[in-house]
Amino acid sequence: MREELAALREEALRDIAAATDLSALDKIRVAYTGRAGRLTRAGEQMRHVAKEDRPETGKLLHEVRQAVTGALDARAGELLSAQEEAEVASVDPTLPGVAAPVGSPHPLQLLEKRAVEIFRRMGFALAEGPDIETEWHCFDALNTPPDHPARNEQDTFYLPDGRLLRTHTSTVQIRTMEAQPPPVRIIAPGAAYRRDEVDATHLAQFTQMEGLYVDEGVTLGDLKGTLEFFFRELFGPDTRVRFRPHFFPFTEPSYELDVRAAALGGGERWLELAGCGMVDPAVFERVSERRGDDAYDPRRVSGFAFGFGLERLAMILFGVPDIRMFVENDQRFLAQFAR
Ligand code: PHE
Repeated sequence: MREELAALREEALRDIAAATDLSALDKIRVAYTGRAGRLTRAGEQMRHVAKEDRPETGKLLHEVRQAVTGALDARAGELLSAQEEAEVASVDPTLPGVAAPVGSPHPLQLLEKRAVEIFRRMGFALAEGPDIETEWHCFDALNTPPDHPARNEQDTFYLPDGRLLRTHTSTVQIRTMEAQPPPVRIIAPGAAYRRDEVDATHLAQFTQMEGLYVDEGVTLGDLKGTLEFFFRELFGPDTRVRFRPHFFPFTEPSYELDVRAAALGGGERWLELAGCGMVDPAVFERVSERRGDDAYDPRRVSGFAFGFGLERLAMILFGVPDIRMFVENDQRFLAQFAR
């Protein structure tokens, strides 16, 4: 039995040393230490060994088993690291990587971010309201009479329940004043919807940015200063801004704002960019009725409001010839705004 065990050890260690890969080594492991393996069977032979020889033989069997399992583990470690080295050797770390396609912000997002940053510096906070609106928020509260053309089904998307897709972001003026007392200084970028025929300058869904400032003693001078500052920050210090009298139901007086800047290509032209004016006292009265308090008493507070289309601004700023480019998702167009 002792000689057999010694021979078994020799043979096992030779087999293990000769194994050239992990699966061969695994077969050897099974052949020696598996359930029907040679070492296991040798253990079973112990009961035929004479009683006085058993301690010695048992000790030897234990040593052989330890030597074999130790050699198996050591060889497995060698083979594994050899395999890993081979894998690493097949990689050339000096090769350039595969470039992942990088996205870019949409031009309207870029512009919105810049616009928000400029108004933030003047203390304006972001506000928002729903795209699906009540007629009251979109028209009545904004002093727009029932026979006004904007309320016509030809111009506005109505839902069967009488609500509508807001035709402008001026609804956020009302929502904000309903929810909080003055002073209010907000801007509200968001979608607006009109039943316009889609062409190079019109979309049925477009983006506006609304502004509202209400406090005691807000004047037309504040309105002019705020918008002049905004457009000079956006288009450059040489930008000229002009206020042309106009009409909106919810502001009095009302103006259209034109901008002229060398940087804008059409440097010799006045470009109409925004509507604005002093909040009409009738609007404050509607809001006060809703609130049931006198926080917006027009004898005490005054305010200005403005609104402009972000697509139109982006077209001028970035030289985009057709408004539909903003919604066509053409990579060749959008990738030009990657930075
Ligand atoms: N809501 C107006 C429009 O969509 C713009 C505007 C906003 C005018 C605020 C005056 C004050 O044309």
